[in-house]
Amino acid sequence: MKFQEIKNNIYYCGLNDCERKIFDELIPLEHGTSYNSYFVKGSEKNAIIDTMYPPKIDEYLKNLSDNNVDKVDYIVANHGEQDHSGAIPALLEKYPEAKVVTNPKVAANIKSMLHVPVERIIEIADGQEISLGDKTLKFIFAPGVHWPDTMFTYIKEDNVICTCDFLGAHYVFSDVFAVKSDELTNSAKRYYAEIMMPFRAMCRRYVDKIRSMNVDMILPSHGPVHANPDYILSLYEKWTDEEPDNLVVLPYVSMYESTKAMIDYLAEKLEQKGIPTFKFDIVSDDLGDYAMHIVDAATIVLGTSMVLAGPHPASVNAAYLTALLRPKAKFAALIGSYGWGGNLFGQIGETLKPLNLDVVGTLQVKGKPTALEFDKLEDLAEDIYHRHKSIGLL
Ligand code: FEO
Repeated sequence: MKFQEIKNNIYYCGLNDCERKIFDELIPLEHGTSYNSYFVKGSEKNAIIDTMYPPKIDEYLKNLSDNNVDKVDYIVANHGEQDHSGAIPALLEKYPEAKVVTNPKVAANIKSMLHVPVERIIEIADGQEISLGDKTLKFIFAPGVHWPDTMFTYIKEDNVICTCDFLGAHYVFSDVFAVKSDELTNSAKRYYAEIMMPFRAMCRRYVDKIRSMNVDMILPSHGPVHANPDYILSLYEKWTDEEPDNLVVLPYVSMYESTKAMIDYLAEKLEQKGIPTFKFDIVSDDLGDYAMHIVDAATIVLGTSMVLAGPHPASVNAAYLTALLRPKAKFAALIGSYGWGGNLFGQIGETLKPLNLDVVGTLQVKGKPTALEFDKLEDLAEDIYHRHKSIGLL
């Protein structure tokens, strides 16, 4: 995908990145990603909205030249993170008359991170507009989705909004317009889980705002353009709802199959009670799948083995990631197996504390679980069942 008209002289000029396998060195990418950039041709002035990831700058500049983008007056920076701002210095060189239009927080970021000269920056206020002649760009500050510097750019006459990272997806495409599919929905959810979920309340605020604007199109900075805004807005309304689903997610690390046996048994008992489960091997499974499932889960049961005298480091990492992503889960349980002794759950409990989860139970066993301990897991399943029932999930 290189250059395509979206609507009335608004063009897609971003690039796919099919090679990229992981984002933020954290979450694997199933479908690569795209770095979206938009060229807006007005009757008097032209603007580029968001730019390019640094390793793609040469290809990006060539794409602009190949498509006769010879005059750029404004480079709108909706966000300072370099997958979108990285090409600003190169664009300023290519288009000597161009100025960066952005908010004070992005301005501070690109001055310090990219050394953009202050005289090439026009700082705007929330709600301010600039004219391109027959088109007006209106800037809507949106701090928190996902950086404090984030803003949206609304193109008034065309009723389209560029939402930067918000409402995006790591997804490559050949036609710029989103086509509803399970694959795209899952990519958008995986993206939401890692990037937006920690700011769930802010996300909800901006979903409501964009919904009330009744825009014709949503142009994010990753993934396809939404000519049917309801598709992505409805998904976000579900994901940002405070009500979790009747789902238990069970991340675990098991060195000698004992913790795994506990997880398997508990999951089986939960399923028998009508509670769907998702088991996740922290060491070998795709972390993105875990992030995606905790978007909806009501309960998280973390299972761990012991290494030396503490929890397996991978389970501490999973607890840390969970706390970082701040899912809407209400309940938790900790289970696991140890060898000679130590503190199996202390550090995990501390790490999860900021989530204020209601801890339904803990169970640690020495080596392989006994029949009595399996009975205790059955009791734990019953307790989780009652918690889910207490909040109307069953
Ligand atoms: Fe896609 Fe926050 O950058």
